[in-house]
Amino acid sequence: MWPKTAFMQRLGLNSPLIQAPMAGGATTPELVAAVSNAGGLGSFAAGYLNAQQITSGIAEIHALTDRPFAVNLFMPEYPFALTEKIEQIQAIMEPFRQELGIEAACPVNPPDFTAQVEAVLAAQVPIFSFTFGLLSNELVQRFKAQDCLLIGTATNVREALALQTIGVDYIVAQGSEAGGHRGTFSGDVDSGLTGTMALVPQLTAALNTPVLAAGGIMNGKGIVAALALGAEGVQMGTAFLSCEESGIPESYRQALLAQEGDDTALTRAFSGKWARGIRNRFMVEMRTAEDVIPDYPIQNGLTRDIRQAATQQSRPEFMSLWAGQAVALSQACTVAELLARLEQEVSQALKRLSKM
Ligand SMILES: Cc1cc2nc3c(=O)[nH]c(=O)nc-3n(C[C@H](O)[C@H](O)[C@H](O)COP(=O)(O)O)c2cc1C
Repeated sequence: MWPKTAFMQRLGLNSPLIQAPMAGGATTPELVAAVSNAGGLGSFAAGYLNAQQITSGIAEIHALTDRPFAVNLFMPEYPFALTEKIEQIQAIMEPFRQELGIEAACPVNPPDFTAQVEAVLAAQVPIFSFTFGLLSNELVQRFKAQDCLLIGTATNVREALALQTIGVDYIVAQGSEAGGHRGTFSGDVDSGLTGTMALVPQLTAALNTPVLAAGGIMNGKGIVAALALGAEGVQMGTAFLSCEESGIPESYRQALLAQEGDDTALTRAFSGKWARGIRNRFMVEMRTAEDVIPDYPIQNGLTRDIRQAATQQSRPEFMSLWAGQAVALSQACTVAELLARLEQEVSQALKRLSKM
């Protein structure tokens, strides 16, 4: 039996679990629907998708489940990089391309945010989540007019208070253990590197808005700990990556399952934004280029050809293998098996605590 939280009751869920949105192909309609059908909240990551892909992805999820699910977008950023700097970083990355046998492709721009958000609004989804910033007041009002619940992402108290001020319904407290990109949008990377254990109670103390814990939570003990810290729900990413329904390449899945400890690190090398992934050659060799790497999303567009070729050639040393610090607890299973195991582990953890 899952413990009941107000978050579960409000959303009509059987468990306090949110499958994290994971842009880049992991959150297939099958994964999202399987989580929602199993009583959690599936999230469809649409950050890298264009409006048409968002519309068709949402339609596919609707065909697979009647249960609520969330759609997630990245708040847009518009940095600038001098041509010289781009040429410099391209020259630094040339040896990787030579090893992969490819020529530098035209950099790819991210999809247009306005078109993305209009596609989400047109689909009238029940829950919209976002990261990397704040939603404008106008968009908050438009989502609320549709009775759509809003979930923002914070990595420190300042960001959480700003999200509360714009009126989101829930705030994801993203601890520094988390896999993937840091959601930090106020201050430098160091201002958003508090661990989940320290971040969740700080946010619950500072906010009236309910908190959802994320970062390094992979089993029942972690879920119970997050609830004990005051979270109403738990957003897990890495734990779902190795599920059969996830859309990641086989070489990525094997890398996750092979981890025996925490060999993850934060890097800007792949995208220009700090993100946590399994340490590999590209991350290590790009360290000396840190000052030259342009900001997200410019670097993300520049490295796309390298990441794509590496995936096609099964060369994980050049792929972004995003994963959280508890990645060694990854298991190969279906979503239904994962949720059943987590439910059992939560019961065992609660029983153990009640006997103390
Ligand atoms: C592969 C991957 C991709 C991610 N993409 C997104 C995303 O598109 N949007 C988002 O809000 N968070 C994204 N995240 C972060 C998750 O929402 C969450 O904070 C993180 O997975 C929690 O840590 P854990 O992986 O240790 O469970 C991503 C995480 C991973 C591992």
